[in-house]
Amino acid sequence: MKNSASPVDQQPFDFILFGGTGDLAMRKLLPALYFRHCEGQLAEGGRIIAVARRDYNNESFRELMETDARIHIPEADFDAAAWQEFLQRVFYLPIDVTTVEGYSDLGDMLAGREELARVFYLSVAPNLFSVICNGVDEAGLITEQSRVALEKPLGRDQETAEQINDQLAASFNEKQIFRIDHYLGKEAVQNLMALRFGNALFEPLWRNERISDVQITIAESLGAEGRGAFYDQTGALRDMVQNHLLQLLVILAMEPPVSIDPDAVRDEKIKVLRALKPLVGGDAIENTVRGQYKAGAYADGAVIGYRDNEDVPSESKTETFVAIRAEIASWRWEGVPFFLRTGKRMESKTTEIIVNFKKVPHSIFETADGFSTPNQLIIRLQPEESIRMRIYVKAWGDDIQLQPVHLNLDFNDVFKKRQMIAYERLCMDLIRGNQTLFMRRDEVAAAWAWIDPIRQAWEQHNVTPKPYTAGTWGPAAANALISREGFKWYEE
Ligand code: NDP
Ligand code: BG6
Repeated sequence: MKNSASPVDQQPFDFILFGGTGDLAMRKLLPALYFRHCEGQLAEGGRIIAVARRDYNNESFRELMETDARIHIPEADFDAAAWQEFLQRVFYLPIDVTTVEGYSDLGDMLAGREELARVFYLSVAPNLFSVICNGVDEAGLITEQSRVALEKPLGRDQETAEQINDQLAASFNEKQIFRIDHYLGKEAVQNLMALRFGNALFEPLWRNERISDVQITIAESLGAEGRGAFYDQTGALRDMVQNHLLQLLVILAMEPPVSIDPDAVRDEKIKVLRALKPLVGGDAIENTVRGQYKAGAYADGAVIGYRDNEDVPSESKTETFVAIRAEIASWRWEGVPFFLRTGKRMESKTTEIIVNFKKVPHSIFETADGFSTPNQLIIRLQPEESIRMRIYVKAWGDDIQLQPVHLNLDFNDVFKKRQMIAYERLCMDLIRGNQTLFMRRDEVAAAWAWIDPIRQAWEQHNVTPKPYTAGTWGPAAANALISREGFKWYEE
């Protein structure tokens, strides 16, 4: 399976994976690096050093990895020979990152490799971010070619995010800091940019004269099982809206950047975040819906309610669903509502962007549906990637009756190969030092600045989440939010 074609910019590296025994490392990061190894993208001699406290050595850690890999890598993609080769790159360092001695052991492993790309990947709880940054800094392990990668959530609000950012800035410069939002690593999200800026077709239509409303849905069928303790302190607004949903929104709405350079792209993204009309006080209450799932059922069986999770308080008021009506104050988007929603235990796992175009100004035709749903661009990001365009055509027959049909583009049919997982792209960008798909400090701050007043309004007005049944599309209030202007959530 290993592809011997070497990419031009292979760089030797040390990838230091703090939290190497954790869930994210085992489920996503190590499989992602394995796939890149199989594609011949990891340079000869490039090492992955997994760091955690548990008592493994190289051999026993590699055994642990193999057990997990068999679960997380689809059988068809698991090549035993390539896997063995990949394991030779992996080393395990049992240290406690809160102790000074740990860093001296790490220093011994890294000695003599100062010229290589050095990635410190912090796949650990956020309270260890600054501990590790200080640790590697004081041990003199930060080289010119070093970068540090952090997982979301970055703080709980603007203030705590700024504190973390200050702590990072004490050891690393901004060009070395890679803040991860794994949605940016998804092929489908990058395709959104390709669709908008690689085709002249859409640009003239991409504005308020032509578009009536935009909907972005990130629906999950999974519940909070196993993560209740974390989730209950976080909620859907912080877990999904502040990052993934807003990132989709800004990529959809931003002006064309002058180039694909990291700062050119991020400069345009932040303009959208800053142009979001603030939702403060009564505006926040009027334009948002909080929900929490209760017990329900899917085709394969019943599921418990959010509060029935053993690590969730039985009176929890944490939201598992959020819907928001947002607006962007700009020439391009003035007057176009953006309806955003995300939730756990919704009917299906679907990430979709719907761009609804305005009706024809004057119709000479009749349609069975009275042009009730005019042209629609349906960009599906998950579970499969596809683009559909809803247009009207004349139905075959004697009379002239128009009927909506879909032009369909299914990416699986087009590319016929394994779709990269988000972390493959992100890990390679880390090694190569390309920041385009990572969030800049000011972006994170701007996203929190828009989110914080919503949470404050909920607290001040004691807005408790509305219950919805697991396996549905969320509380009825979310339908009311969109239907008061005559719109309707796209659910097909
Ligand atoms: P886990 O709790 O599964 O893993 C935490 C890791 O940290 C373990 O490897 C643990 O190893 C290590 N660790 C803890 N304390 C120390 C210490 N003092 N010294 C050295 N190692 C230590 O967390 P996740 O993998 O789920 O999450 C990691 C990060 O990624 C978090 O910030 C999380 O919010 C974020 N994230 C996770 C996602 C996921 O899907 N899991 C999704 C998005 C973000 P040991 O016990 O052996 O020391
Ligand atoms: C994570 C959230 O960032 O994204 C999870 O913390 C959520 O709660 C996950 O389940 C969704 O990611 P994906 O890639 O499965 O859509």
